[in-house]
Amino acid sequence: MRRLTLPLILAATLCAAQTPVSTIAPTLVPTPPMGWNSWNHFAGRVTEQDVKDAADALVSSGMRDAGYVYVNIDDTWEGKRDAQGVLHTNDKFPDMKALGDYIHARGLKFGIYSSPGPTTCARYAGSYGYEQRDADLYASWGVDYLKYDLCSFGTLMAAGAADHPDDPDYANKMMKAAYAKMRAALDRTGRPIVLSLCQYGLDDVWTWGASVGGNLWRTTGDINDSYDSMSRIGFSQGPLAAYAGPGHWNDPDMLEVGNGHMTGDEYRTHMSLWALLAAPLLAGNDLSKMTTETRSILMNKGVIAIDQDRLGRQGSRLSKDGETEIWTKPLRGGAVAVGLFNRGTSEARMSLALSDLGVTARERALPAESSPGAAKGTSTLGSVRLDSSLGSSQSGQGTFVRVTALPPARLHVTNVWTGGAVVDVEGMVTEPVPAHGVVLLRVEP
Ligand code: GLA
Repeated sequence: MRRLTLPLILAATLCAAQTPVSTIAPTLVPTPPMGWNSWNHFAGRVTEQDVKDAADALVSSGMRDAGYVYVNIDDTWEGKRDAQGVLHTNDKFPDMKALGDYIHARGLKFGIYSSPGPTTCARYAGSYGYEQRDADLYASWGVDYLKYDLCSFGTLMAAGAADHPDDPDYANKMMKAAYAKMRAALDRTGRPIVLSLCQYGLDDVWTWGASVGGNLWRTTGDINDSYDSMSRIGFSQGPLAAYAGPGHWNDPDMLEVGNGHMTGDEYRTHMSLWALLAAPLLAGNDLSKMTTETRSILMNKGVIAIDQDRLGRQGSRLSKDGETEIWTKPLRGGAVAVGLFNRGTSEARMSLALSDLGVTARERALPAESSPGAAKGTSTLGSVRLDSSLGSSQSGQGTFVRVTALPPARLHVTNVWTGGAVVDVEGMVTEPVPAHGVVLLRVEP
């Protein structure tokens, strides 16, 4: 089988590598995509009804209005190809067009999943050899987002590399070509479709994901619903910060918030860290059964605003001291988001020197008492204001200078999870941070 198909595979994929790929439409995911994906909770059991329930819950919970708009069906929706090569759905998804309409009717967007290989990771039909046909099919269903998961294409890459020992980059070229090929196929449909590369961070995908038309790319293996998995992934993402930006995002995998195996503090760490990382926020829980705490974590407006900040900068680690870490993310208007993270198993008091943030407080405006001009004016000198004016006194004509002490310019610090103001003492913020927990701050000039 390998002997018969490989030459064809290589010709097709390497030819596609030469094809110029479209530049990413700047209107597609200018901020990290937000929504829901079926995999983390439902995995292979997901059905059409589960997806409809998720769409309904996004609306009724307020999540849609908070920004969660993509409803993404992951693996196991696929059926068999017919004699014409058209892929059909399996019995769990009787009518994908109708499901797409159902999702769109609720003001949501529709995402689907496939693989560049012959089979997906759960061994359903992949798009290998049928890329354009599948892209056209997705467009006919109204698909807005495709997660394209390497899976069995890795086997083809290994075979290609074995046949080309002279070219150490052969497998990498095949992989890039496979993603570029699907990008081109999606573009040819004329429908704007987000392309999510899923290949677990192989070959430093962040350095080339955008060049093959990816709007986001997984940077790691699969997350699971444990503090160990989440924190191992999340706290390792700092060095990738420079590669994320509007239209092209690092993806440390979907959220586990609400799936039940982490504490509230751990899920707040998860959500805070993902927001600081400008990560896609794809909820992975059963939205039809959310506790009040789960809702409050997924829908905290201040946290979402940090993730979705239009500057589009990913945050990174500022400092580390034993089991505590401080992470920062630059925001629009000179503000900074700061995460005080305690990775230890008992509460820690953490201190932040605001001067370390590089944020300059804006001078407070005082009511003008004299306007600048040839004869009089106002100027500030450090923390004092000088008002000068020409005038006369009993002793004669002269220049009078009044010196007023200005209140010191201060940064405004908010605790994002509680919404409360945080007071610094001589430029130091000190907060108790629970075990495996976080204090997330927003610091405004
Ligand atoms: C891979 C991906 C997961 C999920 C499964 C589906 O493991 O990384 O996110 O899509 O495949 O089979």
